[in-house]
Amino acid sequence: MNIAIFASGSGSNAEAIMKAQKEGRLSAKIGLVVTNKAKAGVMQRAADYNAPYVVLNNKDFANEEEYVDSLIYALDEKNIDFVVLAGYLQLIPARLVEKFRNRITNIHPALLPSFGGKGYYGHKVHEAVLDAGCKVSGVTVHIVDEKYDRGPIISQKSVPVFDDDSAKSLAERILIEEHKIYPATLQLFAEGRVEVSEGRVRIMDGI
Ligand code: GRF
Repeated sequence: MNIAIFASGSGSNAEAIMKAQKEGRLSAKIGLVVTNKAKAGVMQRAADYNAPYVVLNNKDFANEEEYVDSLIYALDEKNIDFVVLAGYLQLIPARLVEKFRNRITNIHPALLPSFGGKGYYGHKVHEAVLDAGCKVSGVTVHIVDEKYDRGPIISQKSVPVFDDDSAKSLAERILIEEHKIYPATLQLFAEGRVEVSEGRVRIMDGI
C-alpha cells in the first residue's frame, strides 16, 4: 500500500501515521504528503520523516480541471494507491473519489453521523457537541465518497465529555485517540481486511 497523506494544518495525525510506519506498526509506504497550504505545520513534519511533499492549491490553477489534473499527476508519479485525509480542509474532487473508490479515508473528531458535514470542522465540531449537552463524543474514521463526512464508517472510539470541558480540552482528549485509531485502521487496509459493500464496511478476520 502506497499512501498519500493530505493535510492542511498542524499535521499531528499525519505524524502519528508516519511514526507508526517508521516503527513497523503500519505496513505501508508514505509515498507523498499533499497540502493546500504552503505554511502548514505538516510540511515540517513530513520533512522530519523524509516523506516527499507537495503544495497544491486549487486557487493557484486557472480552473478546476487543471487543478485535478495536477493532483492526479502528482499521485500517479509516486504510484499512490491509497489516499489518507488528515485534517484536509479542501473538498476532494469527484474525479479523485472515483479514481480511488473505497481507497480514501478521512478522520473526523466526533461520532458520525452526528456533528459532521459542511461547517463542522476544527473547534466548531466540539462546540456543537458541548452545546448539545452530549456526554460522549469521539472519533470516526470513514471512507470518503461524494458526500461530506457521510461515507461508510470503518472505525470509531468514544471519548467521555466532562461537565467542565471546553472545546479545547475535549479536542485534546479526542486527538489522543485519533493518533491511535488512524494508524491502526490503515493497517487493516494494509492487511487487506477491509471489505466495503452496499455502503457498509466489514472487517475480515486476520490470517
Ligand atoms: C483532527 O482533529 C482531525 O480529526 C480533523 O482535523 C484535525 C487535524 O489535526 N479532521 P492535525 O492537523 O492532524 O493535528
